[in-house]
Amino acid sequence: MSTTTASTIANNERFNAEAAKWDSNIAHVRCCEMALESVLHHVPAFAHGQAKNFDVLEIGCGTGLLSFDLSPRVRSLVGVDTAQGMIDAFNVKIGALLQPEEANLAAVCVMLEDADDVKVQGAAAALASRRGEPENIPYRFDLIVSHLTLHHIPSLPAILATMFQSLKHGGWIALTDFEDFGPDAVKFHPKSKREGVERHGIKRNEMEMTINGTGFDRVKVETAFTFTKAVEGEDGGLKKEMEFPFLICMGQKA
Ligand SMILES: C[S@@+](CC[C@H](N)C(=O)[O-])C[C@H]1O[C@@H](n2cnc3c(N)ncnc32)[C@H](O)[C@@H]1O
Repeated sequence: MSTTTASTIANNERFNAEAAKWDSNIAHVRCCEMALESVLHHVPAFAHGQAKNFDVLEIGCGTGLLSFDLSPRVRSLVGVDTAQGMIDAFNVKIGALLQPEEANLAAVCVMLEDADDVKVQGAAAALASRRGEPENIPYRFDLIVSHLTLHHIPSLPAILATMFQSLKHGGWIALTDFEDFGPDAVKFHPKSKREGVERHGIKRNEMEMTINGTGFDRVKVETAFTFTKAVEGEDGGLKKEMEFPFLICMGQKA
């Protein structure tokens, strides 16, 4: 059964409203480019040339800013997102590809709470069948990515357990989000967007403990990059630029 909280509803309303214009915000694009660089740097398979065989799951894919950059480097990518508006925008981009029926990526609207989720399994099966493979349910993934989404997810232990279940043995998580570096981290979101925010960034120690506690090996949580963002004054006044550290959270399922 899906856990829909008040913040999930607020989130979906916000992201449905922002979806059509999401990609025209250069800050969104730039931040995803930095996340991609960090994933490519930290996941060993990209340097070792094995990533082309990777099936990737992305949690909180949004309109696909990261997905469409990552998908040419891997075998397949399934994105999940809770906002239908974001999935619709993702699908418009699929439709605009030269050969949409041959795309190696797809996205579904779901709050992922079970690796065997029928929508995720259906999307993975459709991509496998496009590659000429017979159905092989349950599908599991070589890599799970998620950018700028963990701070919206109600339970980190629960989503990490679902990620663990969704991975093949040897599979990796590589998750990026802004760090809760102290009281000023709250400024990442203007007051008007704070309703659906579960936490003002992720905490280094908490992430490390939770990933370890889920059963992952080779756990590493470190600064991935620093992102400069224009933030509103707390009184809604003049914007000024502020630097936000982003963490990358790594772990491998043995
Ligand atoms: C800040 S946006 C980031 C989107 C995309 N990763 C990007 O960087 O462009 C956060 C996304 O997470 C989605 N989201 C929020 N809670 C979620 C959940 N529990 N599961 C999956 N997606 C979620 C939102 O709908 C939204 O698309």
